[in-house]
Amino acid sequence: MERIKRKILITGGAGFIGSHVIKLFVNNYPDYDIYNLDKLTYAGNLENLKEIETKDNYSFIKGDIVDSDLMQNIFQEFHFDSVIHLAAESHVDRSIANPKEFIDTNILGTLNLLNAARNEWAEGGNYRFYHISTDEVYGSLGEDGIFLETTAYDPRSPYSASKASSDHLVRAYYHTYKLPVVVSNCSNNYGAFQFPEKLIPLAINNIQKKKDIPIYGKGENIRDWLFVEDHAKAIDVIFHHGVIGETYNVGGNNEWMNINLIKALCGIMDEKLKRDVGESAKLITFVEDRAGHDLRYAIDSSKLQNELGWSPSLQFQEGLEKTVDWYLANEDWLASVTSGDYQKYYDNQYGIT
Ligand code: NAD
Ligand code: DAU
Repeated sequence: MERIKRKILITGGAGFIGSHVIKLFVNNYPDYDIYNLDKLTYAGNLENLKEIETKDNYSFIKGDIVDSDLMQNIFQEFHFDSVIHLAAESHVDRSIANPKEFIDTNILGTLNLLNAARNEWAEGGNYRFYHISTDEVYGSLGEDGIFLETTAYDPRSPYSASKASSDHLVRAYYHTYKLPVVVSNCSNNYGAFQFPEKLIPLAINNIQKKKDIPIYGKGENIRDWLFVEDHAKAIDVIFHHGVIGETYNVGGNNEWMNINLIKALCGIMDEKLKRDVGESAKLITFVEDRAGHDLRYAIDSSKLQNELGWSPSLQFQEGLEKTVDWYLANEDWLASVTSGDYQKYYDNQYGIT
């Protein structure tokens, strides 16, 4: 069957997940034109895209999704037929410190993209607006339970409230204006190129530098972890085969209590850095809990597995080892992303002078 040639706008493509998605699409679909729109905030880095930056089917546009005129203009100029929307402020702790940017980018920015697509796309055309979201919109679980696509929204941080709001807007544009949308909600990603403010790369960075590993509260919170390349593959499958108007949960079926995850990571780091067994774990330091810290996330991705045939490919131990290897081999990347404002933000947070 002949493949439809696509002109795809991918937002947030210089970030962690976005850069993996861009690389997958640019490499696997040479006949698609891929446009990466990114503001290049502290979390966006063109170094993440070195591997594909000179490819003919890839273009970069520096821009802010909050700029509604720019969004209208680029739609008119490039005639995108699809959007994969990943651009967002993504870190929960930053949303607690400063919610405003989360409201601007995650809600207004999404609205601007929806409006630009709606203005440009004729009803009934072969278009697709794919919105990438998070399992955090479903709230927090106790010891039991699992998030389904039908679970009622109950966001509890400014970040998750802003993502929930954007999900609602996307679905409202489907129901009200028949915009052809699809949504996915994913659990915690880990892997190469993740900014070292998130738990796993932060711990790897600190262990390597023999700095304390801050564990919020008692470390008893639970997250479901998915290797980022498996998420990128799920995005590929949902983009091509997801049913318009539907939502798909994406997860690793891989729940870990934070403290147990960090102990496992310390074991891997001891081995890789040829340190004594138990040396890295001595860096574990319990600190004040995150405000409103969600206890547990667990996500049921059987709809995606049964209907579209996706499943996670990597075991956690293998994924963690690959991730550690990547960070140890990319000290320059770590040094460059942690220079400047980030180090000030981090030191302030933990009272480091
Ligand atoms: P990230 O913070 O690593 O990257 C976000 C990217 O968006 C950066 O390149 C940044 O420059 C860009 N950006 C931010 N504000 C922008 C703006 N106003 N205009 C244009 N670009 C802007 O985020 P990530 O972890 O890669 O997450 C990507 C998406 O996936 C987000 O929508 C997030 O909510 C969602 N998500 C993330 C996870 C996770 O574990 N990281 C899990 C589920 C869903
Ligand atoms: O569930 C999906 C979400 O996962 C995404 O939507 C978010 O964009 C992404 O940031 C992530 O959110 P979390 O808050 O779960 O991830 P984070 O890495 O910040 O924290 C993971 C767990 O570790 C959480 O329980 C808080 C805890 N933690 C985090 C940090 C940064 C610590 O104990 N110490 C830390 O220093």
